[in-house]
Amino acid sequence: MSNTFYVTTPIYYVNDVPHIGHAYTTIAADVLARFHRQLGDEVFFLTGTDEHGNPAAQAARKRGLAPQQHVDEMVEKFKSLARRVNATNDFFIRTTDPSHGETVQRLIQQLYDKGDIYLKSYEGLYCSACEAFYAEKDLADGKCPDHGTVPELVKEENYFFRLSGYQERLVEFYDKHPDFVLPETRYNEARSFIMQGLEDISISRATLEWGIPVPWDESQVVYVWVDALLNYLSALTYARDENLLPVFWPADYHLMAKDILKFHAVIWPALLMALGFELPRHLFIHGYLLLGGQKMSKTRGNVLDPFVVMDKYGVDAFRFYCFREVTFGQDGVVSLEGFESRYNSELANDLGNLLSRVAAMIGKYRGGRVPSPPAPNSELAATTQTLGMEVGRAMAGVDLTGCLETIWQFVRALNKYVEDSAPWKLARDETKSAELSGVLYDLAEGLRISALFLYPFIPDTSSEIMRRLGCLEGPQDLLLEKAEWGVIGPGSHVLVEEPLFPKLAE
Ligand code: MSP
Repeated sequence: MSNTFYVTTPIYYVNDVPHIGHAYTTIAADVLARFHRQLGDEVFFLTGTDEHGNPAAQAARKRGLAPQQHVDEMVEKFKSLARRVNATNDFFIRTTDPSHGETVQRLIQQLYDKGDIYLKSYEGLYCSACEAFYAEKDLADGKCPDHGTVPELVKEENYFFRLSGYQERLVEFYDKHPDFVLPETRYNEARSFIMQGLEDISISRATLEWGIPVPWDESQVVYVWVDALLNYLSALTYARDENLLPVFWPADYHLMAKDILKFHAVIWPALLMALGFELPRHLFIHGYLLLGGQKMSKTRGNVLDPFVVMDKYGVDAFRFYCFREVTFGQDGVVSLEGFESRYNSELANDLGNLLSRVAAMIGKYRGGRVPSPPAPNSELAATTQTLGMEVGRAMAGVDLTGCLETIWQFVRALNKYVEDSAPWKLARDETKSAELSGVLYDLAEGLRISALFLYPFIPDTSSEIMRRLGCLEGPQDLLLEKAEWGVIGPGSHVLVEEPLFPKLAE
């Protein structure tokens, strides 16, 4: 029986156009989804949009549109971003999907019936960009620490969720599951937040019209964060004809940046406990991509447009750069200069040039057919075995950067092998013909295996490398069970074509 794997991205707000930060999480989830499909797992990869709440309603008003019309337009940009980055999401959820709304109403009614929700009048400082109340002590100079804006004093009668009642169970859960939140620093942050004491949270809004009505009191709408968090469950109930909840829940990984850690590490597990669902296995909190040292945001005007980058340099170069440049899990600076330099030195030289050379040599010395090796190369075969284990270990810990680095060391080792074995010299000496065949076989096989491991990161390039090596007949050739040495058949037809990554002018 195959394993299942359920991975999610946050559902993105549609008040603004998508930027590189959104692309980043979506690609990371795609890397994991593709890797698990290569393992033969049954995968469900979910992404989508968070369409209710104040910012979306305000953005619509500014444009003179009805909220639904605004979100219908904006969602296309997010869908096209997912397609453009080559994301293989199995579903795209919109919180305005009627089926999502029905599930939210059903679940929240369940909490109300159970006594976990009560009515209370409330006064607090509200940041509408965060869609969250702030205690005075959590503000920075009286301003929202994330948006730098002064929160407004809101007084309302709202429905509250008894979050405080879940504190002990949450701590107990955290203690039993030290890998619930990854990396460890984020786990510590979340746990210490819970230890400071939890207050009940308002889970409805009386002043908003743009949201899912509270089923027992239609004068209020469900708080946008409760509406949004429930997407991870609701999507599984209607993405297919069959209810996928029993198949894929609990989620294996919710991916996100630290801006939304608290919602996922505290409110989400408490809601799930209250509803009687199992908790997700892991939250993985990655860092921010920074441009010029700041978190990218439209308001700060420092947005790197992923569409522009991809149009100019290709999708795979962009996907590669995201995880190569910045250690996944940490903040890191991205720049066009950094991108171009990695493109030239690693994609054009290390990988693209390697394929061109190998294909050209097999063309020139062996008529374009992978030769039969006189004997298997035990050293390279052993290296690929270790490589497979290291890749598996890195992916299990969502160490996407470590994984790429390991694979890249292998790509570099293949380049060194070309230099050390100098096939062009062997070709001049007839007594070295068997040796030459061995070297060319090794290089073709080494490249095939590199392509297989690189597939989750740069899928088009990997498929292209395998196609040119004549070893991609169907999806089964991309499975990791094929990562063992000796799979490429002698006689395989190798094509000499254009460089994979044309060099950029310095
Ligand atoms: N709608 C909520 C999430 C609800 S999930 C139940 C939301 N949306 S958002 O559009 O603001 O997306 C935030 C997420 O986008 C981050 O957690 C992260 O995944 C991604 N990123 C946004 N900017 C980013 C960077 N600059 N760098 C890395 N990731 C970024 O919050």
